[in-house]
Amino acid sequence: MDLITAIRSRRSTAPVTDAAPSEAELREHLAVAAHSPDHAGLRPWRLISIRGAARQRLGDALVTGFGDEPGTPAAAKTASRPLRAPLLVAIVCTPVQHPKVPAWEQLAATAAMVSTLELVLFNAGWTAMWRSGPAVELPEVRRLLELAEHEQLLGWLYIGGSPDTGPAQNAAVGSAVVEQPDPEVGGKLSELSAGTATV
Ligand SMILES: Cc1cc2nc3c(=O)[nH]c(=O)nc-3n(C[C@H](O)[C@H](O)[C@H](O)COP(=O)(O)O)c2cc1C
Repeated sequence: MDLITAIRSRRSTAPVTDAAPSEAELREHLAVAAHSPDHAGLRPWRLISIRGAARQRLGDALVTGFGDEPGTPAAAKTASRPLRAPLLVAIVCTPVQHPKVPAWEQLAATAAMVSTLELVLFNAGWTAMWRSGPAVELPEVRRLLELAEHEQLLGWLYIGGSPDTGPAQNAAVGSAVVEQPDPEVGGKLSELSAGTATV
């Protein structure tokens, strides 16, 4: 698939199938995504994959963290949230003190990498949806993921197989490739006039 087609076709999909990239495949995709813009090449991020029963541990942490009464429908709903995909990948920004790269740039570099990873996964036939919400701040969740004080949880990529929804197929796994129209961005770009030099 060419780059422009991939960008126009990638979509966050839910629900997804039970198929997921292996740990080795995920590592390969991450290595590609790691080419994303990154001031000083700090790679100020790390990922934690969460599969199978580990997703239930996350669900339990959500239930405790949100204070849901165990055994209630609300608790069951909260606990089932991580089960919406076979593979969750926690996205952690790991900023360091750097004389030239402030923390905000490291956060931006992390987001750039994740965006690229979504595209790389799509190109390989998978679907990924970035989800976050107040759960990222819960101490129970941070403890489960063994996050250090300075690390910031940016949510999870929910990764799985795309249900077969269209005629064109992505050869790798069989996901549908449907190009979406470009969003209207007319008001999002302006040009500074040459004007008169003031400095
Ligand atoms: C940082 C971040 C956090 C997000 N968190 C959520 C979320 O918690 N729930 C949700 O439904 N979508 C969330 N989204 C949006 C989806 O990931 C997705 O981008 C959006 O539904 C648009 O779909 P598309 O990716 O197919 O264009 C988030 C996106 C970003 C960038």
